[in-house]
Amino acid sequence: MLVNLRDICAVAEQYNMAIPQFNTPSLEAVRAALDAAEETGYPVMIAHAEGHESFAPLKYIGPTMVDLAERSSAMVCVHLDHCEHLSYMRRALELGFTGTMFDGSFLPYQENVENSARAAEMVAGFDAGLECELGSMGTRENGAGHENDHEGKAIYTDPEQAEEFVNSTGLDILACSFGTVHGIYKGEPHLSYDVLREIRKRVNVPLVMHGGSGVSDDDYRKCVDAGIRKVNYFTYGVKYGGEAAYKAIQDLKAKDANSEIYWQDLTDASYEAMKADFKHVIEVLANGAGPIA
Ligand code: 13P
Repeated sequence: MLVNLRDICAVAEQYNMAIPQFNTPSLEAVRAALDAAEETGYPVMIAHAEGHESFAPLKYIGPTMVDLAERSSAMVCVHLDHCEHLSYMRRALELGFTGTMFDGSFLPYQENVENSARAAEMVAGFDAGLECELGSMGTRENGAGHENDHEGKAIYTDPEQAEEFVNSTGLDILACSFGTVHGIYKGEPHLSYDVLREIRKRVNVPLVMHGGSGVSDDDYRKCVDAGIRKVNYFTYGVKYGGEAAYKAIQDLKAKDANSEIYWQDLTDASYEAMKADFKHVIEVLANGAGPIA
């Protein structure tokens, strides 16, 4: 069942849980996320990032995501991740996306406010919700975690500025920076729960964690208890999917060095690995709530 970003976040609020947003730039990832949600009985978000256009064009992956979400027995929001161009955002909304993120975090503060407010005006014409970002998760962000294999210096969101940002943009949910970064962590992530709690005290909207790959189960639970309602997760999904495809080739060749390699052997292995990983993330973020979907 396809649901609006605001409604799925309201469910997360009601059950003191977070909904994972899985970036799904392949049919295998879409299947894995939707099947993981149905098998666990929890809501899920599937997302397309503007930065993934080159290998997952919106015109192909967008209608597939919306159609499969509508047919799913799970509660599903179809979201546009890290969008920097309003014309691209309009295309996703016209395809039926029920959530979208305008990412102006790389802009000077005032320009971020003005562009986020423009995005809010556009989203108001559709049955969709809006996420905006204040702060920075380490580099210019496009949701393509594997490109950001950096030291991961996050610039924490200023809680006072967050309050002003929420009040002057009309956003529905806020992505804030409190120590997570996109991509593979080179060391341990250092999360500031104080920053997170302070933002939560000042703003009355659900909060979003970007850079969900590499965060421990324990830290996930603490973040949920401190007010995180949506967790963005991409890098580890494609990493496990890629590793499973590689292992499938090795296993076939170990059995018979002359074995042919068929595409579906790789996509099946990749789907299974992603689904197992997604189910784990969904269950940890459910934070003890019983199945909901
Ligand atoms: P990861 O790269 O840590 O998976 O984060 C993805 C993300 O935040 C996409 O918006």
